[in-house]
Amino acid sequence: MSESFEQLNKYQVDSLHETSEAATPEALDAVHLKYLGRKEGLLTQLLQTLPSLPPDQRKELGRKANEAKRALESALAEKKQSLESARLTKTLSETAEDLTLPGTPLVRGGLHPLTKVEEDIVAVFQRLGFNVAEGPEVETDDNNFTALNHPPDHPARDSHDTFYLKSHKDAAGAPLLLRTHTSPVQIRYMKTHKPPLYIVAPGRVFRHEAVDATHSFVFHQVEGLAVDEGISLADLKGALTLFAREMFGGSAEVRFRPSYFPFVEPGIEVDISCAFCSGKGCRVCKNTGWVEMLGAGLVHPNVLRGVGLDPGKFSGYAFGIGVERVAMFKYGVDDMRLFYENDVRFLRQFR
Ligand code: DAH
Repeated sequence: MSESFEQLNKYQVDSLHETSEAATPEALDAVHLKYLGRKEGLLTQLLQTLPSLPPDQRKELGRKANEAKRALESALAEKKQSLESARLTKTLSETAEDLTLPGTPLVRGGLHPLTKVEEDIVAVFQRLGFNVAEGPEVETDDNNFTALNHPPDHPARDSHDTFYLKSHKDAAGAPLLLRTHTSPVQIRYMKTHKPPLYIVAPGRVFRHEAVDATHSFVFHQVEGLAVDEGISLADLKGALTLFAREMFGGSAEVRFRPSYFPFVEPGIEVDISCAFCSGKGCRVCKNTGWVEMLGAGLVHPNVLRGVGLDPGKFSGYAFGIGVERVAMFKYGVDDMRLFYENDVRFLRQFR
């Protein structure tokens, strides 16, 4: 066996060994260059010596050398692929997101409790067929008072601590004001629509009052008005009983107490049985079993006449619900200021 054959055997064994030992694609390239490089490669050089060998050896060595070359090439290619896929797996495992980690929670907003309660109140009456009406927060003295049967010097005006807009006057020269209740929407609606009328009017109202646990200079009401032929207190009681049960639970009761509001006759105050103690008496209802919830009554004939309706033909009921009052009662909140401070720790509880 000639030297060249021994050389070839050694190259073959070494090159395959070095290929399997190579730990990086770069190391593989070096093995490739060492044995198969176009000028310096050991196998390349060996093949270049073929022409100088005796013909019988030349043929044999040529065949073996080409075999060794092909075997090395395929070992290199195979190893290269496995190194590259190992490198890819490593990079991915080091840089990719861990999909099993818990996600960052998405903080969702929610409606303000007063908005929610206002929407709930309105929805109850919408189901009864009431439409939603709205009026402006800046009102005329006429709509806020006079047309609601408060003549100019009527003492009931004093019970509303009114904010007047001194520099803004209505057509008659009276200063405009911030509405003290949503009742003026009744007037606006009756002036522009013909009976049968069934509306609720939610909105903000303003009174010049000091802020404390149960008072604020701005708060919310939902006004209700029904005008039709043959409307009586029984219709009012039916509608308000349904309202009480929808808002506070199926066994809620309503109670009417005589009261006074200039624009209704009779005027009544409506109590709802206490949802906290089911009428047995507790801190919330001050041991009476009842909570005062809203004002209501039958629309005063003067009001109907004032908007051009014949009180002999039409009658109606009206009510005014305090949204804050309902919200406080419904959620057991004992300080109204919490609704306006907008501390998210408070608001979050209503989402
Ligand atoms: N507007 C009255 C207030 O704010 C509440 C009220 C009482 C409204 C009786 C009504 C009603 O519609 O009939 O004090």
